[in-house]
Order: sequence, then C-alpha cells, then structure tokens
Amino acid sequence: KQHVARIKQLLKQKDAVLVAHYYTDPEIQALAEETGGCVADSLEMARFGNQHPAKTLIVAGVRFMGETAKILTPEKTVLMPTLNAECSLDLGCPADEFTAFCDAHPDHTVVVYANTSAAVKARADWVVTSSIALEIVEHLDSQDKPIIWAPDRHLGAYIEKETGADMVLWQGECVVHDEFSAQALEKMKHLYPDAAILVHPESPASVVKMADAVGSTSQLIKAAQTLPNKKLIVATDKGIFYKMQQMVPEKELVEAPTAGAGATCRSCAHCPWMAMNGLKAIENALENGGEEHEIHVDDNVREKALIPLNRMLNFAA
Ligand code: MLT
Repeated sequence: KQHVARIKQLLKQKDAVLVAHYYTDPEIQALAEETGGCVADSLEMARFGNQHPAKTLIVAGVRFMGETAKILTPEKTVLMPTLNAECSLDLGCPADEFTAFCDAHPDHTVVVYANTSAAVKARADWVVTSSIALEIVEHLDSQDKPIIWAPDRHLGAYIEKETGADMVLWQGECVVHDEFSAQALEKMKHLYPDAAILVHPESPASVVKMADAVGSTSQLIKAAQTLPNKKLIVATDKGIFYKMQQMVPEKELVEAPTAGAGATCRSCAHCPWMAMNGLKAIENALENGGEEHEIHVDDNVREKALIPLNRMLNFAA
C-alpha cells in the first residue's frame, strides 16, 4: 500500500510511465493499468514506450525489454526495477558466438527474437516477437530467403513447420516454457476432458501438438475469449493469469503441468527473473535511478540494433 502511494507520486514528479509485461506480478500489472501505463507483450511494450510522451519509462519486465525501449527512444531515461532480471534466451545466445554462427551462413537472412541482447540485435536483419514472428517469416519465405533463427529452438521449429521456410535454428530455450510436459498434460486432460488447451510456441513440440490454440501471450488472451470452453489449461508463464482472468472472469483457468512437480520443477511456470520485479524495487528505481536501475546502450550498438527493430515495428504497423 505504502509503496503504491509513493510510486504514484513519483510517477507524476518524474514525468514517468510504468510499462509492464504480462508475466510480472499482478500488483505491478494493476498499478500500470491504474496509472495510465501499459500491460502488454514485448511488442506492445516497445510500441507504447516509443509513442508515450513521458520523459522517463519504468520498464517492469526483463532486461532486453528495457534495452529495446532505450534503443527506440534514447532521449528518454529508461529505468528498470532491477537490471539483474535476465532472460534465459538472451543468456543462451552470447553475441560473439552468435556472430560466428551468422558468419558461417552468410547467405541467410538473420531473424532474432526480441529476447536477445542489443549486441545480438545489432547483428540481425530482423527482430521479431512471438506475436509477429510467423507473419514476418512467411513474408521472408515468400521471397525465397533462407533464414537464421535465434535463439528459441521450439518457437523456431514451430515456425519452420507452419511456414515450410528454410531455417537454421539456434538451440536456445526459455526455462519456463521448455518445462511444460506433454505426458503430464495428457493426465490433466483426462481430469478436465472439456477444457481447451492454450499453448505458447516456446513450449516443446509435443506440448504444442496437444493445443487447441497456439500463440503469443496476446494471442492466447484472445483465444481465451474466443474459445467456447469454460475451462482453459494454459501453458505459459502464470503471470498471464491476471490479464486473462480479467478478460474471462467467468472461466476457470488451470496452470498446465511442468515436468517436475512441486520442489523438483525448475521454474514452476513462473520466470524467476520476472519475479524480481517488485513494488519496492520500482519505488527505488524511480526515487534513486542510477547505475542499479538505469539502462544504457552503447551508441554504436544502438544505431545498428535500431534498424531491424524498426523493420519489425514498420511491418507490424
Ligand atoms: C513477448 O513477446 O512478450 C514474449 O515472447 C511473450 C509473449 O508475448 O508471447
């Protein structure tokens, strides 16, 4: 309570707006909504931050989301609750190794997921998010271009299968989605035979195969509204339940099972880095700024990364 009141004051004082991801904790999403900020996926977060007149963006999510905001609007101060909120996909794709991978396939168009460092984006021809990846790869495939895809191997394999595009895949994965289990989901489906299964395509192919709807967070939220089922089994980070339940208050949402149960699952369907975003940390960031909270991107890298990011935003427009 006391943090919420102070954050509201600070947002006004510092001409700041809160931009939060669907995977952050419910109280952060609620605060963003209440204060005229946004709750969205990484594509919408980028767009919102880019268009909003505030001088300061406070980005609650993981580091690449803050970097994307800084690349798009270098004139703004971009703060994060903590700069230690990483992303397993980003960590699994170091820029130097990725550059060597690209150099080994010189005739390929390089498509990278937004979940990468600024330096990896700087090496790419296109940046995509999960909500627009399929359309962009379809577009590139229609021009008969072979593609390097990085870093998520499950999403890459899904897109390859859907589009038939010629793709070389980097072998990265998201710690949350990689852990959903088809075997455990089969068992759950027996318990809830009338439930529809909603799956994020960063999940293993065996899980995607069982889905009634496959898509990014925003697409899954839409599917929850469109599907007639009263019960929905949802295979993505459980942070999404806040927004999804708000959109379908009459439906029952059930977490899809992960491979390990209880103490043995690694992420247990919630990103440990997203969970580092707390109200106290937001207050701290707004109050103090500084090197623990402020995002900086090297100018040279920024200029290069801006090109494929703008390509995505223009394609999406
Ligand atoms: C994102 O783009 O925000 C993440 O990939 C999650 C999603 O929206 O599907």
